Amino acid sequence: MTLKKIVLYSLFLGAIAMVIHACQSASEIELAKYHSNGKDIYKTKCQNCHGENGEGLGELTPPLTDTIFLQQNKQKLACYIKNGVNEPMEINGKIYHEKMAGFKDMHDIDIAQVIVYITNSFENKQGMYTYEQVANDLKNCK
Ligand code: HEC
Repeated sequence: MTLKKIVLYSLFLGAIAMVIHACQSASEIELAKYHSNGKDIYKTKCQNCHGENGEGLGELTPPLTDTIFLQQNKQKLACYIKNGVNEPMEINGKIYHEKMAGFKDMHDIDIAQVIVYITNSFENKQGMYTYEQVANDLKNCK
Protein backbone atom coordinates (compact mmCIF):
# COMPACT_ATOMS: atom_id res chain seq x y z
CA MET A 1 0.00 0.00 0.00
CA THR A 2 1.22 3.49 -0.69
CA LEU A 3 1.31 5.99 2.11
CA LYS A 4 -1.54 7.92 0.50
CA LYS A 5 -3.70 4.83 0.42
CA ILE A 6 -2.94 4.05 4.05
CA VAL A 7 -3.90 7.58 5.09
CA LEU A 8 -7.15 7.49 3.09
CA TYR A 9 -7.96 4.05 4.45
CA SER A 10 -7.46 5.14 8.06
CA LEU A 11 -9.57 8.25 7.50
CA PHE A 12 -12.30 6.05 6.10
CA LEU A 13 -12.20 3.65 9.05
CA GLY A 14 -12.19 6.60 11.44
CA ALA A 15 -15.29 8.04 9.80
CA ILE A 16 -17.12 4.72 10.09
CA ALA A 17 -16.16 4.45 13.74
CA MET A 18 -17.51 7.94 14.38
CA VAL A 19 -20.82 7.17 12.70
CA ILE A 20 -21.26 3.94 14.67
CA HIS A 21 -20.38 5.74 17.89
CA ALA A 22 -22.86 8.56 17.19
CA CYS A 23 -25.67 6.09 16.44
CA GLN A 24 -24.98 4.17 19.60
CA SER A 25 -25.11 7.20 21.80
CA ALA A 26 -28.27 8.48 20.09
CA SER A 27 -30.07 5.21 20.85
CA GLU A 28 -28.64 5.14 24.37
CA ILE A 29 -29.96 8.66 24.95
CA GLU A 30 -33.39 7.64 23.61
CA LEU A 31 -33.45 4.63 25.95
CA ALA A 32 -32.43 6.79 28.92
CA LYS A 33 -35.19 9.28 28.09
CA TYR A 34 -37.87 6.56 27.91
CA HIS A 35 -36.55 5.06 31.14
CA SER A 36 -36.63 8.30 33.08
CA ASN A 37 -40.11 9.34 31.86
CA GLY A 38 -41.27 5.79 32.49
CA LYS A 39 -40.04 6.02 36.06
CA ASP A 40 -42.20 9.12 36.68
CA ILE A 41 -45.25 7.35 35.24
CA TYR A 42 -44.50 4.25 37.31
CA LYS A 43 -44.27 6.27 40.51
CA THR A 44 -47.63 7.97 39.98
CA LYS A 45 -49.64 5.09 38.48
CA CYS A 46 -48.10 1.74 39.34
CA GLN A 47 -45.91 1.91 42.42
CA ASN A 48 -48.80 1.82 44.93
CA CYS A 49 -49.50 -1.76 43.95
CA HIS A 50 -46.29 -3.07 42.39
CA GLY A 51 -43.93 -1.47 44.92
CA GLU A 52 -41.00 0.92 44.66
CA ASN A 53 -38.66 -1.92 43.73
CA GLY A 54 -41.19 -3.95 41.75
CA GLU A 55 -41.60 -6.27 44.72
CA GLY A 56 -45.41 -6.49 44.45
CA LEU A 57 -47.89 -6.50 47.31
CA GLY A 58 -48.28 -9.77 49.16
CA GLU A 59 -50.90 -12.08 47.69
CA LEU A 60 -52.61 -9.22 45.89
CA THR A 61 -50.20 -7.79 43.32
CA PRO A 62 -47.54 -9.76 41.48
CA PRO A 63 -43.96 -8.48 41.48
CA LEU A 64 -42.27 -7.20 38.32
CA THR A 65 -39.09 -9.12 39.01
CA ASP A 66 -39.93 -12.19 36.91
CA THR A 67 -37.78 -11.49 33.87
CA ILE A 68 -38.92 -14.62 32.05
CA PHE A 69 -42.62 -13.76 32.45
CA LEU A 70 -41.99 -10.22 31.23
CA GLN A 71 -40.01 -11.51 28.26
CA GLN A 72 -42.49 -14.19 27.28
CA ASN A 73 -45.45 -11.84 27.58
CA LYS A 74 -43.77 -8.72 26.28
CA GLN A 75 -46.25 -8.21 23.43
CA LYS A 76 -49.18 -8.47 25.87
CA LEU A 77 -47.91 -5.90 28.37
CA ALA A 78 -49.32 -2.91 26.45
CA CYS A 79 -52.78 -4.57 26.42
CA TYR A 80 -52.55 -5.37 30.15
CA ILE A 81 -51.68 -1.75 30.92
CA LYS A 82 -54.17 -0.09 28.57
CA ASN A 83 -57.17 -2.40 29.01
CA GLY A 84 -56.47 -4.06 32.34
CA VAL A 85 -56.23 -7.79 32.86
CA ASN A 86 -58.04 -10.46 34.81
CA GLU A 87 -56.49 -13.89 34.36
CA PRO A 88 -54.55 -16.12 36.74
CA MET A 89 -50.84 -15.41 36.35
CA GLU A 90 -47.88 -17.38 37.59
CA ILE A 91 -45.08 -15.01 38.60
CA ASN A 92 -41.92 -16.29 40.28
CA GLY A 93 -43.71 -19.60 40.87
CA LYS A 94 -46.72 -18.05 42.68
CA ILE A 95 -50.22 -17.73 41.24
CA TYR A 96 -52.01 -14.36 41.37
CA HIS A 97 -55.77 -14.00 40.89
CA GLU A 98 -56.63 -10.36 41.50
CA LYS A 99 -57.61 -8.14 38.62
CA MET A 100 -55.74 -5.08 37.41
CA ALA A 101 -57.78 -2.15 36.09
CA GLY A 102 -56.68 -0.59 32.81
CA PHE A 103 -55.27 2.86 32.20
CA LYS A 104 -57.44 3.98 29.29
CA ASP A 105 -56.09 7.52 29.32
CA MET A 106 -52.46 6.49 28.74
CA HIS A 107 -51.06 7.28 25.29
CA ASP A 108 -48.93 4.79 23.35
CA ILE A 109 -45.80 6.77 24.19
CA ASP A 110 -46.57 6.68 27.94
CA ILE A 111 -47.18 2.95 27.77
CA ALA A 112 -43.91 2.44 25.85
CA GLN A 113 -42.01 4.48 28.43
CA VAL A 114 -43.43 2.61 31.41
CA ILE A 115 -42.73 -0.72 29.65
CA VAL A 116 -39.13 0.37 29.08
CA TYR A 117 -38.92 1.33 32.74
CA ILE A 118 -40.24 -1.95 34.18
CA THR A 119 -38.33 -4.13 31.70
CA ASN A 120 -35.08 -2.31 32.48
CA SER A 121 -35.41 -2.09 36.26
CA PHE A 122 -35.72 -4.58 39.12
CA GLU A 123 -32.91 -6.75 37.63
CA ASN A 124 -34.53 -6.71 34.17
CA LYS A 125 -32.44 -5.52 31.22
CA GLN A 126 -34.41 -5.88 28.01
CA GLY A 127 -33.55 -2.66 26.19
CA MET A 128 -35.72 -0.41 24.07
CA TYR A 129 -39.46 -0.75 23.37
CA THR A 130 -40.87 1.89 21.03
CA TYR A 131 -44.33 3.46 20.86
CA GLU A 132 -44.65 1.96 17.37
CA GLN A 133 -44.30 -1.51 18.92
CA VAL A 134 -46.92 -0.56 21.51
CA ALA A 135 -49.32 0.69 18.81
CA ASN A 136 -48.87 -2.60 17.02
CA ASP A 137 -49.41 -4.68 20.19
CA LEU A 138 -52.61 -2.76 20.96
CA LYS A 139 -54.11 -3.85 17.63
CA ASN A 140 -53.88 -7.44 18.78
CA CYS A 141 -55.43 -7.26 22.26
CA LYS A 142 -57.87 -10.02 23.06
C1 HEC B 1 -54.50 -1.43 41.94
C2 HEC B 1 -53.27 -2.20 41.88
C3 HEC B 1 -52.45 -2.14 40.58
C4 HEC B 1 -51.99 -1.03 39.91
C5 HEC B 1 -52.17 0.45 40.28
C6 HEC B 1 -51.20 -1.52 38.78
N1 HEC B 1 -51.22 -2.89 38.78
FE1 HEC B 1 -50.26 -4.10 37.44
N2 HEC B 1 -51.12 -5.72 38.27
C7 HEC B 1 -51.98 -5.72 39.35
C8 HEC B 1 -52.54 -7.05 39.55
C9 HEC B 1 -53.51 -7.47 40.64
C10 HEC B 1 -52.01 -7.86 38.52
C11 HEC B 1 -52.35 -9.34 38.23
C12 HEC B 1 -53.53 -9.35 37.26
C13 HEC B 1 -54.07 -10.73 36.94
O1 HEC B 1 -53.61 -11.73 37.47
O2 HEC B 1 -54.98 -10.78 36.08
C14 HEC B 1 -51.10 -7.01 37.75
C15 HEC B 1 -50.31 -7.44 36.71
C16 HEC B 1 -49.38 -6.66 36.04
C17 HEC B 1 -48.40 -7.16 35.10
C18 HEC B 1 -48.18 -8.60 34.67
C19 HEC B 1 -47.70 -9.45 35.80
C20 HEC B 1 -46.33 -9.11 36.31
O3 HEC B 1 -46.20 -8.93 37.54
O4 HEC B 1 -45.36 -9.02 35.53
C21 HEC B 1 -47.70 -6.08 34.66
C22 HEC B 1 -46.55 -6.07 33.67
C23 HEC B 1 -48.23 -4.91 35.32
N3 HEC B 1 -49.25 -5.31 36.17
C24 HEC B 1 -47.79 -3.62 35.12
C25 HEC B 1 -48.38 -2.50 35.68
C26 HEC B 1 -48.05 -1.14 35.30
C27 HEC B 1 -46.99 -0.75 34.30
C28 HEC B 1 -48.85 -0.32 36.05
C29 HEC B 1 -48.91 1.18 36.01
C30 HEC B 1 -49.21 1.79 34.72
C31 HEC B 1 -49.65 -1.18 36.91
N4 HEC B 1 -49.36 -2.48 36.63
C32 HEC B 1 -50.55 -0.71 37.87
C33 HEC B 1 -52.26 -4.63 40.16
C34 HEC B 1 -51.98 -3.31 39.84
